[in-house]
Amino acid sequence: MIQCPRGTRDFLPDELEKRRHYESVLRGVARRFGYREIETPIFEEAELFILRSGPNVMKELYAFKDKGDREIALRPEMTAPVIRAFVNGMGSYPKPIKLFYFGQCFRYERPQAGRYREFFQFGSEIIGAATVETDAESIAMAASMIKALGLKDYKLRIGHIGVLRQRIADIGVPAEKTAEVLQKLDKKNYDECRPLLQSMGVKDEDISGLFELTETVGGTEVLSKVPGEAGDYLRSLTSILEKMGVKDVEIDLGVVRGLDYYTGMVFEAEAPSLGAEKQICGGGSYSLSELFGGEKVFSTGFAIGFDRILLAMEREGIAYEPEGIDAYVIPVSDDVRADAAGIVTAIREAGASADVDIMGRKMAKALKYADSVRARCAVIVGRKELDRGCVVLRDMKTGEQSEVPLAELAGKFAQE
Ligand code: HAM
Repeated sequence: MIQCPRGTRDFLPDELEKRRHYESVLRGVARRFGYREIETPIFEEAELFILRSGPNVMKELYAFKDKGDREIALRPEMTAPVIRAFVNGMGSYPKPIKLFYFGQCFRYERPQAGRYREFFQFGSEIIGAATVETDAESIAMAASMIKALGLKDYKLRIGHIGVLRQRIADIGVPAEKTAEVLQKLDKKNYDECRPLLQSMGVKDEDISGLFELTETVGGTEVLSKVPGEAGDYLRSLTSILEKMGVKDVEIDLGVVRGLDYYTGMVFEAEAPSLGAEKQICGGGSYSLSELFGGEKVFSTGFAIGFDRILLAMEREGIAYEPEGIDAYVIPVSDDVRADAAGIVTAIREAGASADVDIMGRKMAKALKYADSVRARCAVIVGRKELDRGCVVLRDMKTGEQSEVPLAELAGKFAQE
């Protein structure tokens, strides 16, 4: 039997209905924040991702040559494609441009719970603004999305990669080694980071100072330890966020992010219930457009790991009930099958969801099937009732039955 490839999944109808429901919740939030949707191709020129995504992404890139010998990659994320699309065709749009997207991304990682090779991101970018309000708007939308989904147990951490980059440069790390150092700091892998820094001639006290900086974690009181303008920036960011109702944030200068393009504020949300793969959202401010042939434009964005956040919701016991259908029409005998087809059509035309038995099942089996498709009522079409211009309406939950004149049937569903 052929299975779907490792790290990918089929979404069967119950699961997909749930996913579509929550996707629409997220779309609703994005629209309320004034964002508009954008869609870009699932594959791109590999170079787009190689230019700035960093060593982590490179290792995991699904890249191949197409039949025309072009280097192609399946997108591992959607920020670079969106900025490419902006440079290609949105340069003259009034700024800021607020875009959101939903779609699958691909990373060749070792699959485990919450980690897939094909996964879905719901993300957003604000292009063309470099104000503290931009960052606040982005973080506030991420928080609103998590809340709108009903997730309770999560933590939002805000850092500033600019501070770390500055410190790394100040202690003498060559520019081309910065990504490697950041990668180790991201994983809090101090045991490997220390000898790496020592090999570059960085002094021990500077190494300890750097590690201490990444361990700066806490409420706004820790901002006194954040050097330079970044401290003031984060202070004003958290005070705007507070006014926006986002109060439960933590300052954490150890937020490094796996991607290489961030320049200033960075943030992550995690759901502790997920264990190892607990990061449900990540983002920050960056500039990428100049790499793709455009002018330098600052942007801020984030992406929610859709699969992960759904998993976290499941762990919290948030259940989704599939919608089911309004009516299931059951012809009692062969001679009323055509009438049943007319009846289901009338119900559908009234705007309700309805299905009809097409298997010629006996009543008990047909009712069982109606239950399995979560029909709210059954419309039983019998010869005797039809001759009186009626059908029998059965409430599938209570089992109560009543006769309804055909002329009133569609109207009953239209009112629902
Ligand atoms: P990222 O942190 O690499 O950021 O990915 C965003 C989210 O996607 C993660 O927080 C995680 O929830 C989810 N994710 C990542 N890899 C996997 C995987 N293998 N399986 C399941 N979920 C996964 C970005 O991609 C940036 N483009 C976000 C951004 C937008 N920054 C600025 N704008």
